[in-house]
Amino acid sequence: MIFTVAIDGPAAAGKGTISKAVARHFGFAHLDTGSLYRAVGVKGGDPIQAALSLTQADLDRDDLRSLAAGQLASKVAAIPDVRAALVEFQRSFARREGGAVLDGRDIGTVICPEAEVKLFVSASAEVRARRRHKEVGGDLADVLREVIERDQRDANRADAPMRMADDAVLIDTSEMSIEQAVAAAISAVTAAFPTR
Ligand code: C5P
Repeated sequence: MIFTVAIDGPAAAGKGTISKAVARHFGFAHLDTGSLYRAVGVKGGDPIQAALSLTQADLDRDDLRSLAAGQLASKVAAIPDVRAALVEFQRSFARREGGAVLDGRDIGTVICPEAEVKLFVSASAEVRARRRHKEVGGDLADVLREVIERDQRDANRADAPMRMADDAVLIDTSEMSIEQAVAAAISAVTAAFPTR
């Protein structure tokens, strides 16, 4: 069975948690596509070469979740040749046998417009900054600035900007617990799931 769940949205909206929970619930494979851009960003050197030569070791680095890695990721993600180098891997992951959940910014719009389910997970910038702050520490005002700066760069780039697909279901997690957000996502996927 080929079945793709595309989960897009801004930084720290809850995409990662929701994606993992949906993948576990349905027994699908999960790809956090942001980690590809983070790995390219922290690898250094020519970002296009980095994207063309990514290895599992690059994806296993333990510094990928830092604020700095997020900023580097969103800078290299604006380079069309970097995005192009990562498209095929993501597309084949999306259409693999057995079902797949991919989370990112352009999954429902560019990588897999034919996805059976598209979710756009969002929350206010303040809520997202508070959540990210719990993960990375530091100064809350700096984290908020970082979140807003990254949103703007991701939404305004020319190539594959972050955008909600016309046929996506919006899940605003600002006022939701993790359990409520996961339940909303699972019910949206269940509604589209072929009956067995
Ligand atoms: O989701 P995460 O915060 O890990 O993504 C890091 C950065 O990678 C984003 O800010 C965005 O610039 C880029 N990205 C992207 N397209 C994706 C996933 C992530 O441009 N599908």
